[in-house]
Amino acid sequence: MGNLCQGPSNDNCLLGLRVLAQVMAFSHEVLPLTPELFGNGNRIKLLWKLCNRIKFLQNQVREYGDFSSFMMGRQRTFFAYHPDQIQEILVTQQKSVKKGLGINWLKPVLGEGLVTSEGEFHRRQRRLALPAFQKQYLETYDKIIVDESLIVSREWRHGDTVEMDEAMMSMTLIIAATAFMGSEIRENTYLINDALTAFFDLFRTFRTPLTRAINSLPTKRRRAHTSALRQLDELIYGMIKRRRDEPRAKSDLLSMLLLAQDAEGDGTGMTDKQLRDEVVTALLAGHETTANALTWTWYQLSQNPDVEARFHEELDRVIGDRPACSADLEKLTYTRLILKESMRVMPVVSILGRTSLVPMELAGYQIPAGSGLYVSQFLTHRDPRWYDDPKTFNPDRWLKDKTRPKFSYFPFGGGLRHCIGERFAWMEGLLAMATLGRKWRFKLDPDQVVAPLMVVTTRPRYGMKMIAEERSSL
Ligand code: HEM
Repeated sequence: MGNLCQGPSNDNCLLGLRVLAQVMAFSHEVLPLTPELFGNGNRIKLLWKLCNRIKFLQNQVREYGDFSSFMMGRQRTFFAYHPDQIQEILVTQQKSVKKGLGINWLKPVLGEGLVTSEGEFHRRQRRLALPAFQKQYLETYDKIIVDESLIVSREWRHGDTVEMDEAMMSMTLIIAATAFMGSEIRENTYLINDALTAFFDLFRTFRTPLTRAINSLPTKRRRAHTSALRQLDELIYGMIKRRRDEPRAKSDLLSMLLLAQDAEGDGTGMTDKQLRDEVVTALLAGHETTANALTWTWYQLSQNPDVEARFHEELDRVIGDRPACSADLEKLTYTRLILKESMRVMPVVSILGRTSLVPMELAGYQIPAGSGLYVSQFLTHRDPRWYDDPKTFNPDRWLKDKTRPKFSYFPFGGGLRHCIGERFAWMEGLLAMATLGRKWRFKLDPDQVVAPLMVVTTRPRYGMKMIAEERSSL
């Protein structure tokens, strides 16, 4: 796999400092669990391991197997590696858990959108939002995806060095903004970009009472962040107002959400604030994820020329000289396997966290209420019990009739919190691959060092410079 570093690291080493502060206050709990399930309580070792969550969890698997436990500061935390336990946490016992504590960091920007809300409020918002993500509505977005991919494609010249991660990020942002808010947003995408950059800046900043206090100081950077987020809010609230005043509905997500009424509940719709939160959530959850999935896919294609040749053959056969459209999706079978395999090897979301609300039983162990629960797509997707030669990128593995447990592959999560945008993500990923792949082949820049960075999503730590070679003049 080229020079891809197999052991990713979480850049946020500062997390360790926070944990150190919490570890100081560590109090040992006596639980009815076998001692083998636990680490040996060496707090300094734990601290250093926590600087790299994936490596730390990988070691847990090596030492303790499918189900293990450790202290995360003061919180007893469990890590489920086996798909059956993952299914228990995400689906079977989903009503006994809520999201992990880290999700609160997102609330200042996302408000109470689908990603951050909980309980009955979340279920109601999900009921209201679901119709907008149905197949028949989503398919009308194919033109937006293809048109935007064509614009990006036409900007490149043969031999250009392309910053692939940046190109995919701005392409998916414009696609998401247009699909979710309509074409009038196009000239304002810079506002969204600034606000999302501010958001990621805030999120990356290490969260302790001290840094929170520092962050709230009216520094120039802080003022720029606040202003970017305020401008985005003004833009969205302005659009909501115009839509409410307009009797004729448009076909974008915002209009769909605005018209939605909770027939199962009190029959009312969303307030302006709820609409704003859902739109910002969808923009954030829906562009960076797909951009990273595409970037890693172009990288994998550049490292696997045989797969790339079959990909091009399929595009030439299925799409030919015309623009791709949603009717092509079911015929792009090999392209779909490539994207699927790419999200197995490098899942865009690598870890999911939950907190138990009540005492639970998992893998035969009693889990106290208030425990942390982790599952990891990155690690379970590479378990040799389910995948032969798991680090190798091999789309054909999905054609073989190997039975695997359901949650041996879960790039989009599961249960009540399953990614609501999965269908959109597949459509966008496949149509963008088809449109760009018809015209271009991408080679990895020989000087590019490739390693994953897991902050919110898994992106290339040092960027992804690729050289564009023209395949056809389309
Ligand atoms: C390759 C692309 C994508 C990946 C890998 C991905 C992955 C995920 C995962 C793993 C979750 C579950 C999080 C959890 O359980 O804690 C999730 C939730 C979510 N995703 Fe995606 N996503 C992608 C694209 C999208 C798109 C295009 C949208 C567009 C709207 C979207 C919107 C959401 C929302 C709103 C949630 C929260 C759902 C809820 O809790 O009810 N995602 N996504």
